[in-house]
Amino acid sequence: MAGNRRRRRRPGVTSDSGSGAEPQGVLGPLTSAAIFLVLTVDPGGEERVRDLLADLPGLRRSVGFGVPGGQLSSVVGIGSQAWDRLFDYPRPAQLHPFRELTGPRHHAPATPGDLLFHLRATRLDLCFLLASHIMDRLRGAVTLEDEVQGFKFQDVRDLLGFVDGTENPEGAAAKAAALIGDEDPDHTGGSYVIVQKYLHDLDAWNTLPVEAQEKIIGRRKASNVELDEDASHVALNTITGPDGEERQILRDNMPFGSPGRGEFGTYFIGYAGTPEVTEQMLDTMFCGNGSAPYDRILDFSTAVTGTLFYVPSADFLDDLPPLPFGGQAAVIPSAPGEPEPGVLAPAPSSGGSLGIGNLNRSTTP
Ligand code: HEM
Repeated sequence: MAGNRRRRRRPGVTSDSGSGAEPQGVLGPLTSAAIFLVLTVDPGGEERVRDLLADLPGLRRSVGFGVPGGQLSSVVGIGSQAWDRLFDYPRPAQLHPFRELTGPRHHAPATPGDLLFHLRATRLDLCFLLASHIMDRLRGAVTLEDEVQGFKFQDVRDLLGFVDGTENPEGAAAKAAALIGDEDPDHTGGSYVIVQKYLHDLDAWNTLPVEAQEKIIGRRKASNVELDEDASHVALNTITGPDGEERQILRDNMPFGSPGRGEFGTYFIGYAGTPEVTEQMLDTMFCGNGSAPYDRILDFSTAVTGTLFYVPSADFLDDLPPLPFGGQAAVIPSAPGEPEPGVLAPAPSSGGSLGIGNLNRSTTP
């Protein structure tokens, strides 16, 4: 029987979740192209990163404004270890490193990441151009950990062939799911995001009969109608809180890959007002529940990265708190030809090699 799992949805927010703080493009429209950049901040690179964070909205406007249908949006997330190096400001209450998971058969690794850039548009060239500006500004101050260019596939399908994103919350429910409300007053309008890069074994997947694939996902492949399957991916990810209400996240997974190299993947991205919700889903997927020892989608999809970031509000980027350590300095570790550990060194001056300068509205004359 189709579609009869009971859903009791949390009603949409009644107050303005985020209490007036403008979020970044977290709630942005799902688009046909995206670039995901995961970076770590090199010792001494903090000032350059901060300059870029302040300029990101302006850079996005520069690239996107002339292409109204392009829907270019940008989100930057900050990793747990980077927070105290970048800002003299209270930590977001639930910011912590991604918690790796080892289940009976599958492992979700935690991988490095101080910064996540999630760039979305209807055209890949807009994401590409914005990513180029970002990297041009940050080169020498950061190390690239991962870069993925994602695309929408057919009628919003993942590379396993199923429509992905159907049960995403919308409107007020999306806001309630994805944004921090008044529970963390220093960070209202912010969000937490978890990303994982999955590689699919499509040869193995495609040997399964379609009915078996449908049982694993929990939806019909052609019609996208939901199935009543307790052990499916959909069922394992339908979770409820102590109040019996369904707890949701806002996803914008993207297929990516390289047919030439035989690489086929899904870049999972989930925004939530508390990382607990996504973590509970991951726990069920990897370690199971009463219905299943683990999510069988993992027999065909290997997680190769895993990182958690805090996404500050747009207002936060507009008016960054000061650098820690009283301003102009960062502690750098010793490296050949560099000062000893613990020596305070001046942070490098900001280098906008594109010559665009500071595009932040609040600081542009
Ligand atoms: C290999 C990676 C993944 C693939 C290919 C995938 C694919 C899908 C598909 C096809 C659906 C059904 C349609 C829908 O979007 O509602 C779905 C649902 C869902 N997935 Fe995934 N997913 C992946 C990983 C994850 C992860 C890591 C999480 C959470 C940590 C997750 C959370 C969800 C949720 C919450 C739903 C909706 C459940 C509901 O019906 O309420 N997915 N996914």
